[in-house]
Amino acid sequence: MKVLAVCLGNICRSPIAHGLLQSKVDRYELDWEIDSAGTSGYHNGAQPHQDSMAISLQHSIDISHQRSRKLSISDLDYYDLILVMDSANYQHVKNMATTDLQADKIKLILNYVNPGRNEAVPDPYYVGGFDKVFDMLDKATDEVISAHQAISSND
Ligand code: 4NP
Repeated sequence: MKVLAVCLGNICRSPIAHGLLQSKVDRYELDWEIDSAGTSGYHNGAQPHQDSMAISLQHSIDISHQRSRKLSISDLDYYDLILVMDSANYQHVKNMATTDLQADKIKLILNYVNPGRNEAVPDPYYVGGFDKVFDMLDKATDEVISAHQAISSND
C-alpha cells in the first residue's frame, strides 16, 4: 500500500501526517510506503515548518529529513491512496485526475474520522495551532490505518 499525504505547501500539515503514518506503519510493521507533497510547489526543497518539526519531535517523531515537493500527475498513478487536508486542495487534486481510478484514490483525510462531513485540517501557516493539527492528524491516521490494514496486509 502506497500512501501520499497532500496539503498546499507540504511544509506544515502533510509533513506531520507523513511522519505520523510512517511511525505507525513502522510500529505495526506494515509494508506501506508513505510520502507527502504539496499542490503549490511554493516551498520546493524546504524542510518542514519548524513548528511542525517541534510538535512531531515532542511525540518522538523526527520529520527533519523531509523536504517539500510539488504533487505531480505521476503521483496519481503511483500511489494507492491520496489523503488531502482540505477541500480546496482536494478539488485541486481531483482536477488533476484524468481517470476514475485516479479520482477514486483521492480522499479528504478527516472523512476517516467523521465520514461524509468533508471537514478540513486547518491551515496553521499564518495562524498557528500546530498542536491541534497534530492531534487531529494523530486520530485521522489511526483511522486510516485501521480502515486499510486488513486489505493491505499482502501488499
Ligand atoms: P501547508 O501550509 O499547506 O499545511 O504546508 C502552508 C504552507 C505554506 C503556505 C500556505 C500554507 N504558503 O502560502 O506559503
